[in-house]
Amino acid sequence: MRARLDTIARSALSQDRAAGAFTCYDLATAYGVVDAATEVGQGVVLLVSPSTAARPHGPHLVRSLRALADDAAVPVSVQLDHASDLDLIERIVEAGADAVLVDGSKQGYDGNLALILQARERLAGRDVVLEAELGRIEAAEFVERTGVDLLAVSVGNVHGTYVGDPVLDHDRLDAVAAAVDVPLVLHGASGLPADTIRRTVASGVGKINVNTELRRAVLQHLATAAPVALDGGANLEKVLSGWADVARQQVLQVMRAFTA
Ligand code: 13P
Repeated sequence: MRARLDTIARSALSQDRAAGAFTCYDLATAYGVVDAATEVGQGVVLLVSPSTAARPHGPHLVRSLRALADDAAVPVSVQLDHASDLDLIERIVEAGADAVLVDGSKQGYDGNLALILQARERLAGRDVVLEAELGRIEAAEFVERTGVDLLAVSVGNVHGTYVGDPVLDHDRLDAVAAAVDVPLVLHGASGLPADTIRRTVASGVGKINVNTELRRAVLQHLATAAPVALDGGANLEKVLSGWADVARQQVLQVMRAFTA
């Protein structure tokens, strides 16, 4: 069923856990993500990267994810991730995304703030949940001035593969959590030890974004399944159902660390 992203995160927080948000480049992965969420009875977020959204079939993928979310037995939100292009944001919301991470974090504090207010203006009258990303301590003022519904923090977490052992600044995370009353979001969760993730959930992180670990699991499945299929009857259906199942298992595995 369709659900607001902030509601999914707040509901997870009320159960001492964070909701999972998983990047979906395709439908087979999304089937696996929704199957895993259904299995554990938890709300989940289907993330679409801005590069996927900007492809010619990006809006069609979002529309399909929207249909999958609407038909799911658990709350599902479709979110455009890390978007800074206002035209793309409008197009993808039109296609069915119900949340956007409006990301002006590379544009400095004022640029970030201005971008969110512009996005808000473009999306006026639409029920769209906005997430912002900010690493600095002025979080309370930022949340108040932008009116965002969720705040992604930058406390030593990075997207992709960590070089060396990841070190998160838990004190800074606690300070941000104490200053704002919107759910916090942790990006770059791939490669973080389970204990580190649990600590962030205990601090008030209500949504955790995962991409690389899920992508790698799917690619590893394809590396083994594709040659076997090519040697046999080229059974693409079997490869695709295996793809969804590997995504489901990976999501179940990482979500175990999302409870404080
Ligand atoms: P990872 O690729 O490190 O899991 O990060 C995903 C993410 O934060 C998407 O917004």
